[in-house]
Amino acid sequence: MKYVQEQEEWDRFVADQLGADAELVRVSPSSSDCRVYRTPEAIVMIRRFTPASIRGRNNSLEDEYLIRQHLSSVTGVPAVRSYTRMGEWEWLEMEPLPELCGYDPSFGKPLETFKDFWDVVQVTMQLNRLGCSHGNLHWQHIGRNVAGGISVFGFDHAALAAPWRCTLRDLLGWPTCGRRGTFSLLNRRPRLRGRAIDFVRRVKARLTREVRKLVPKTESPSTQDPHVAKSTFVSCTRLRADPALSTLAEAWTVGSYSTASAGSYYSLDIAGINFPGERPWLLRWDRIRKQVDFKGKRLLELGCNMGLLSIHAKLAGAAYCLGVDVHTDILSAASLAARGFETEVEFRQLNLSSPSPWEQELRGFDMVTALSLLNWVRNKERVWSFLARHQEVLYEGHESEQEAERNLRQAGFTHIIRLGRSERHRHLFYASQR
Ligand SMILES: C[S@@+](CC[C@H](N)C(=O)[O-])C[C@H]1O[C@@H](n2cnc3c(N)ncnc32)[C@H](O)[C@@H]1O
Repeated sequence: MKYVQEQEEWDRFVADQLGADAELVRVSPSSSDCRVYRTPEAIVMIRRFTPASIRGRNNSLEDEYLIRQHLSSVTGVPAVRSYTRMGEWEWLEMEPLPELCGYDPSFGKPLETFKDFWDVVQVTMQLNRLGCSHGNLHWQHIGRNVAGGISVFGFDHAALAAPWRCTLRDLLGWPTCGRRGTFSLLNRRPRLRGRAIDFVRRVKARLTREVRKLVPKTESPSTQDPHVAKSTFVSCTRLRADPALSTLAEAWTVGSYSTASAGSYYSLDIAGINFPGERPWLLRWDRIRKQVDFKGKRLLELGCNMGLLSIHAKLAGAAYCLGVDVHTDILSAASLAARGFETEVEFRQLNLSSPSPWEQELRGFDMVTALSLLNWVRNKERVWSFLARHQEVLYEGHESEQEAERNLRQAGFTHIIRLGRSERHRHLFYASQR
């Protein structure tokens, strides 16, 4: 399948250019063909030209390089070293950062995040003073590094203009630099409630609509590029023409309407088409596939949602995969997804909170996964004792890293490997009873 081939091409490219120890640290949710890797020497942002990786961007990676060179004195913006383009690949090399704690999903919540907010305001003020507006201060573009500082990324919506214009755009999201602002500081404020605040928000929204009407629409450089316009068209036709891709599109649509707690929340690119979701699937799969061997194994995925793990495990050589979930509608999406990925996975409806003896139905598996599941199940002890009966387990919980490790040990797993943080910023574990 095209998807498998594309993943192999990415692996080859990354190994050739960055070496075997390059670690994937970020994938753009709007296109998995735009990724950030970390090596001991550098942070490298790589983009493969596909319709999905270009759509919606204001700046090319080369523009971004030039803008970031201009910002070399700003603490909080990783310094750039070089820009390279080679065929359909382009990449930007940056100075290495102290290890990022991750893109903190708690950002924007009250109290503990006021310091985060203030730190971002300070970095933004430095940018604005230099006549640069970031234009997209989404939390995914903000990271706190282990040294305690804030780092700001994602300059694909950045614009150069007079400092006051930049401040208005970054503060209020107004298109004062000739471009729309996506996420502004006021979107990122600590959450405040109250009638007066709601009133101010409504006034601001109204004013923003009026100001936007005054500014003529500017074409982004990407859409003016004939290469881009052509490939965008090709991708749409391809979706209609390719039965596997249209089945995947149907899977994503069914998933997005599901009552499951997290319908269609993974994003993924195939053949230049973005199947949208809240979180990039590759960031999760990359942690797992590099350290877990699925070859020839019988895998059971508890709370499988759209079944992406089972599907990928099957593509990675698992002998048999079964995904179970309480919601039938998400299982329809999962079956469509398996068909779209041209692989065979079985899906079954099952409620792990029900008193029925579901354990008896689920026998003979080498590996069981309980990823982000236990939080939703009533009798956690029962699931833990089920996991304890298996040789190998993949686990991600809502508890702290230490607690998760303790729970795995208590269940009898002696060999525990931390696979790293998932795209949810929780710890992923592989545990076995060896
Ligand atoms: C947060 S999602 C995690 C999905 C997937 N394991 C992952 O990590 O991406 C939790 C999943 O568990 C399923 N679930 C919740 N309660 C369940 C239950 N009692 N029995 C079976 N599945 C359940 C939900 O439908 C949902 O698909």
